[in-house]
Amino acid sequence: MDSPSPATLQIEEMKSYDLPSIASLHAICFEDAWHAELLGRILTAPGAFGLFTRPHGKTVGFIICRSTGEEGEILSLAVAPNVRRNGLGGVLLEAAKVQAAKLSIESLFLEVAEDNLAARRLYEKSDFSTVGRRPHYYRRRYGPAVDALTLRCELTP
Ligand SMILES: CC(C)(COP(=O)(O)OP(=O)(O)OC[C@H]1O[C@@H](n2cnc3c(N)ncnc32)[C@H](O)[C@@H]1OP(=O)(O)O)[C@@H](O)C(=O)NCCC(=O)NCCS
Repeated sequence: MDSPSPATLQIEEMKSYDLPSIASLHAICFEDAWHAELLGRILTAPGAFGLFTRPHGKTVGFIICRSTGEEGEILSLAVAPNVRRNGLGGVLLEAAKVQAAKLSIESLFLEVAEDNLAARRLYEKSDFSTVGRRPHYYRRRYGPAVDALTLRCELTP
């Protein structure tokens, strides 16, 4: 597959019929897979939204957020391994920030494993900064638990 170009990428809002393909991608990208029914429950909660992209008809990236009032949380963000480092993660993150601002969300936060350098660099590049730490938060199948870092970004209306 040709690498999708961030400049021409279409970002769509997730609907219930998109969830099986999102769940498949989630299972490829994370040890703890979220099945379609769980995704549906997350997305039907008030203040939740999901965005994804499927150039050439194949789902290759998504971001899922929820909010309680003025504060929003990024619950999950992933890009298919074969198209990473092409700017898709950055485009999805920026699209989520725009969508969140439209919903009057004033700041976004998330938790990321301290050893997830790819994600940490992506968030730093998108103006997130570290505001907290949860020691030994992520249990690993192999090896010691890893701290979670809490990152936050203020949104401009
Ligand atoms: C994190 C993730 C979403 C990044 O997606 P992506 O499409 O590759 O990201 P981008 O191409 O937009 O990268 C933007 C910037 O992030 C940083 N980055 C991304 N991947 C990186 C890597 N493997 N190593 C170092 N920096 C990296 C770089 O600064 C990059 O900019 P550059 O390519 O101009 O140097 C992707 O690696 C992924 O799905 N990982 C598995 C799931 C995950 O960890 N999700 C986050 C949970 S909090």
